[in-house]
Amino acid sequence: MRIVVGVGGGIAAYKACSLVRKFTETGHDVRVIPTESALQFVGKATFEALSGNPVNTGVFADVPEVPHVRIGQEADLVVIAPATADLMARAASGRADDLLTATLLTARCPVLFAPAMHTEMWEHPATKANVAALRAHGSTVMEPASGRLTGADTGPGRLPEPEEIFTLASLLLERADALPRDLEGRRVVVSAGGTREPLDPVRFLGNRSSGKQGYAMARVAAQRGAQVVLIAGNTIGLEPPASVEVVHVTTAEQMGTAVDKHSVGADAVIMAAAVADFRPSNVAAAKIKKGANEPNSIELTKNRDILAGLVQARRDGQLAETAIVGFAAETGDEHGDVLTHARAKLARKGCDLLVVNAVGDGKAFEVDNNDGWLLGADGTEQSLDHGSKALLASRVLDALGPLLR
Ligand code: CTP
Repeated sequence: MRIVVGVGGGIAAYKACSLVRKFTETGHDVRVIPTESALQFVGKATFEALSGNPVNTGVFADVPEVPHVRIGQEADLVVIAPATADLMARAASGRADDLLTATLLTARCPVLFAPAMHTEMWEHPATKANVAALRAHGSTVMEPASGRLTGADTGPGRLPEPEEIFTLASLLLERADALPRDLEGRRVVVSAGGTREPLDPVRFLGNRSSGKQGYAMARVAAQRGAQVVLIAGNTIGLEPPASVEVVHVTTAEQMGTAVDKHSVGADAVIMAAAVADFRPSNVAAAKIKKGANEPNSIELTKNRDILAGLVQARRDGQLAETAIVGFAAETGDEHGDVLTHARAKLARKGCDLLVVNAVGDGKAFEVDNNDGWLLGADGTEQSLDHGSKALLASRVLDALGPLLR
């Protein structure tokens, strides 16, 4: 695919280098178009070497090739990172005073802005109006991350990590469409990752969940405008998604407590976590040793079912406004295939939607792609085509939207 990476003049311009790298390494043809001020931060030669293509900022280079029209027309995706306040203001008002803004006017493909600026600038009504205008024009403007800014400042306005911009950009290519802002004003709780049930201070019972699917759910929900709390069990060192509050837990019990607390008043709870059904009945205070008193079995106690508890709470009149989504990782067996088990699980759990993944043979766990089915309590069944975990998350949120009260 042909991807244009537009670079605004902010200190985060250096992170655009990693982004360009990710696109070229995944086989895309990348054109970097910096603004003149971006070149104060990163040299033209760096972008030329990383992209393998010439780099210009103005419309008067290679005039016979009409690049200010051609590059935009031919692009499959334009990503602006970092999108500074000034660059978004120029883009929102349709200026075409350099090659990047001219390209934005001629592009008819998905356009993604990854903003980076100081918190005051991000929260200024002028910037808010520009972001709203860009979204109204059909562009996707990411929520910035919170954290350390240039100097001593912290707050929202940090450029999302290149990995996250890459994930969102790939999602737009897969969707061939902007991300809707349908979750604006909604509060969504997502659980992710596997729980760990301790046996002694060094050992635990765990599972193979990587947390990637739950993180993708949280990330995409936040980028669709939701205020998201992500309750994260064990994950494989995943970066926290931009603009998401992350609560770390270890055991099923801790996860249950955190989910219950944050679900109050939530519009949706999405249980993507792999919660252990059982925990060791006794946790040894000291490391279990081989020798005279070594155990030869582990006694287990059943953990409560968090998802079933949420559904029960709703039946009891609490969480009346909350849509509830469950996940099921299934294999077929002598009692039935994946879908037969999943239909039974949906009926048993009583949630509104059940996302079903077939597991085994290297599918679903730890990998970056996923597929499956989406079963609705109303009997609807939809297959979720193979794609990134962000795409699957996006399809689930497409189905969740109409269920929100
Ligand atoms: N779940 C939960 N609490 C548990 C176990 C599971 O909330 N103690 C949730 C998971 O987050 C998931 C859904 O229930 O959304 C299905 O998980 P799964 O382990 O497939 O369900 P189980 O009821 O444990 O079914 P099985 O008998 O197949 O193990």
